[in-house]
Amino acid sequence: MPPRWTLDKKILLGVSGGIAAYKTPELVRTWIKSGAEVEIILTDTAARLVSPLTLSTLSKRRAWRDEDLTSDEHGWTIPHITLGGWADALVVAPCTANVLRMAASGDSGTLLGAAMLACHAPKIFFPAMNSHMWANPAAKANAQLLRERGCRVIDPDSGALACGYEGEGRLPSIETIVDETWFSLCPLRDLEGKKVLVTAGPTREYIDPVRFISNPSSGRMGYALASEARYRGGDVTLVSGPVSLRAPSGVKIINVTTAREMLDACMAELAGADLIIKAAAVGDYRAVNYSGQKIKRASGPMTLELAQNDDIAHAIGRAKSPGQILVGFAAETENIRENALKKIEAKRLDMVVANNVSDGAGFGSPFSDVEIHFAGGRGLSPVYVSGDKWEAASGILDAAVTLFRMK
Ligand SMILES: Cc1cc2nc3c(=O)[nH]c(=O)nc-3n(C[C@H](O)[C@H](O)[C@H](O)COP(=O)(O)O)c2cc1C
Repeated sequence: MPPRWTLDKKILLGVSGGIAAYKTPELVRTWIKSGAEVEIILTDTAARLVSPLTLSTLSKRRAWRDEDLTSDEHGWTIPHITLGGWADALVVAPCTANVLRMAASGDSGTLLGAAMLACHAPKIFFPAMNSHMWANPAAKANAQLLRERGCRVIDPDSGALACGYEGEGRLPSIETIVDETWFSLCPLRDLEGKKVLVTAGPTREYIDPVRFISNPSSGRMGYALASEARYRGGDVTLVSGPVSLRAPSGVKIINVTTAREMLDACMAELAGADLIIKAAAVGDYRAVNYSGQKIKRASGPMTLELAQNDDIAHAIGRAKSPGQILVGFAAETENIRENALKKIEAKRLDMVVANNVSDGAGFGSPFSDVEIHFAGGRGLSPVYVSGDKWEAASGILDAAVTLFRMK
């Protein structure tokens, strides 16, 4: 599930006549499942490529068509004005070269064209077309003009295109479209201009090519933090251990495996970071002797010698400059406050997020029960957040923003 602030957001989806229109039912379903309301306007060509009945079934509303622009069926209501004024965001996906031109030139000859003009909400266009069409200076100029006017035009992905060509022109994934929509709709922009470095997931320490020491961290907390920080305007880098989560859109991702790789990546990204959040569950130990060949099963017990890994939060705590805010995590089962405060001191953290893992929350679970404690001297009282990882992420970022304001 996405963050709670996405609930009840009103999205006006313009579907134009690109082949990728067949993907829009899944897009609508995703938005509806997350609690958004969706109105849909199809162009006449789009209505030949995707079924308006499918879209209206999924959105639980009528799917508007070009013929509705001048229909007298609606009495005194004027659909393009009503729809344009209703929306919190207008998303055009897929956006044909033709609709891109219409939007850039203010062509209001269709319901979608008129609604785009009448809409004052943020507008996001997802052009999708043959790679030569997208490379054409006419299409590029229309995209540029829209950007100059404050619209967001998201470059298409590269890859195999439905028309048989290979190149730039693919509609981005549904997850990317959804992420970019939430970014435009996020009510907070309090991390704008801030560089945020987040670590997430477990690390793996290989013993031989097929065996490793790790932990059950899912990475969800770090990924929620990275997504939410980006929605709030941050320039986010996510250093991630091996997880099965999708990289959030608009976030720079650095994939690592071992604790040492994570440390190196963090140190390389540290300069310029305003906020560093260490949400990864980093392995404390690694095998002293890595076996290049698979270790054969022997009779009797086996002893594995382990060496301690460097403590990444500790290393960053020593290296950070006064303006940088460092946030650590502490998974605790007892004496939570006491252990959290000790960690702040030992690692020179600005705040610590103590995760109460005694009742199953935390590791690998979608729920979090966290206490946020601050380094002494600022007179800040602890903050308690109970809920899903999105709520924990919001609480942690709110606390970091408070620290920025006090610096
Ligand atoms: C099968 C098919 C697929 C098409 N796919 C695209 C496309 O992906 N992107 C695009 O810009 N035009 C595409 N076109 C061309 C548009 O459909 C055409 O320019 C049309 O006038 C667009 O109308 P609309 O922008 O009002 O939806 C396609 C046409 C056909 C027949």
